[in-house]
Amino acid sequence: MTAPISAAERRARHTGRIYRNLIGGTDQPALSGTTFPTQDPFTGETWADIARSDAADVDAAVAAAKSAFPVWSAMRPTERGKLLVRLAEAIEAKAEFLGEVEVRDNGKLLAEMSGQTRYMAEWYRYFGGLADKVEGAVIPSDKAGIFNFTLHEPLGVIAMITPWNSPLLLLAWKLAPALAAGNTVVVKPSEFTSASTLEFGRLFDSVGFPPGVMNVITGFGAEAGAPLVAHPDVAKVAFTGSDIAGQKIYESAARSIKPVSLELGGKSPNIVFADADLDAAVMGVVSGIFAATGQTCIAGSRLLVHKDIAADFTARLIEVAKSARIGDPMDAGTHVGPVTTLPQFEKVLSYIAIAEAEGATRAWGGNRVQVEGGHANQFVEPAIFTNVTPQMRIAREEVFGPVLAVLTFEDEEEAITIANDSDFGLAAGVWTRDMGRALRLSKRLQAGTVWVNTYRAVSFTSPFGGYKRSGLGRESGQDAIHEFLQTKSVWIATELSTANPFILR
Ligand code: NAI
Ligand code: MG
Repeated sequence: MTAPISAAERRARHTGRIYRNLIGGTDQPALSGTTFPTQDPFTGETWADIARSDAADVDAAVAAAKSAFPVWSAMRPTERGKLLVRLAEAIEAKAEFLGEVEVRDNGKLLAEMSGQTRYMAEWYRYFGGLADKVEGAVIPSDKAGIFNFTLHEPLGVIAMITPWNSPLLLLAWKLAPALAAGNTVVVKPSEFTSASTLEFGRLFDSVGFPPGVMNVITGFGAEAGAPLVAHPDVAKVAFTGSDIAGQKIYESAARSIKPVSLELGGKSPNIVFADADLDAAVMGVVSGIFAATGQTCIAGSRLLVHKDIAADFTARLIEVAKSARIGDPMDAGTHVGPVTTLPQFEKVLSYIAIAEAEGATRAWGGNRVQVEGGHANQFVEPAIFTNVTPQMRIAREEVFGPVLAVLTFEDEEEAITIANDSDFGLAAGVWTRDMGRALRLSKRLQAGTVWVNTYRAVSFTSPFGGYKRSGLGRESGQDAIHEFLQTKSVWIATELSTANPFILR
């Protein structure tokens, strides 16, 4: 048996890396020659050097993707699918390595990140399998002497802009269907977590993808992301991140009538009825808000609990929150790691202050804590606020941290009203043993995903996306491939006609 690898050894094997853009299958420095450092959110150390791209690098990456498009889109879909399946195998072989790189950059738990990097292979396998199953239709035409059918064709070069919380998994949700559909891609990962996307990008060449099908440029939102969105040769933008950046991207894309898909986070309610299995509900609520240090778009950040059980249920949540081990995300025993970025850490603390100023009760946690070796000092205890009202900012705005707002309700109708009183609509949880109620709520909750007696489950097989301000479009599931296709209707006259040419046929 080999000795377990220590956290320090895991970090050391990634220290001092130099990352450059991946354009047309080769590593290329930013044309300006500039770079920027990336930090480890636990140790605070600068561990890698990243290319700082601007509009000139965007031009080069889009040109590479554009020149690869005729080759990739003309490849037989079965062959494209086989390459995606080979990519899935390469991902599985490298999953632990990729997971470590993600932890080095975003400080989320190694157990979660390497689980995600392993699981993301399934998206490439699933959409690889789907590549040659996109069928058009033969349309029973109402016109005489016409044979009418449809073709589903790729769009061209797709821009993908991703956030720091789950860089590779969230990319897989877009990239796998886009490539299966025959598009080529330029990815701009978050400036906080660029490394894993570049390491992943190297796998494409190794499994035999033509160069330029998948390109990566790194840098900041305004300098690299904005020119990518605006580029005239980009056919569509697929984005995951904040609603504010999503809105800017949508506005920019509108100028050139580019379609967008947007996944913009939420303020998802977890609704606990008195008849629920409360042991399971406690664990579900905890997994919804304290896993990933609350840094997930589907965080169940609003607990709506029936008033009769609210005091007892909250006490049980506090017991679990107290026992959460805050520490090094590379350690298997850690439950809650650091907040990923300094601005995000400050945002979380500011919402804790806002909640108190608005009159919510800090029932547990919310203090900044020190952890041995955690020199970045970006730790906050899981926080539980009671006496929250639906109008408080803590009940309305996405915190993206381990901060739970507890609200109470009297009956089912009030639970639905409070749950739907939100600008967002990404997900919702319902905890009850009454299946009639579960179905009623599933229909009436305004959310793209409803979980009943479970939470934070996602799969390549099932559509995911937001209602309202949580976004546009759906990822995963068979239909997701159509987000990256356009439909052409082909009309063939089987009998030539000399009908009146001055009126519609
Ligand atoms: P952000 O939305 O600003 O950044 C996400 C990505 O968009 C990054 O790659 C960034 O460089 C890029 N970007 C930003 N502005 C852009 C622009 N104008 N044009 C093109 N690209 C642009 O997110 P940030 O600042 O990292 O986090 C801020 C907040 O966003 C968090 O506090 C959280 O509330 C939310 N968030 C939501 C996520 C989700 O999964 N829905 C993920 C990460 C953050
Ligand atoms: Mg980093």
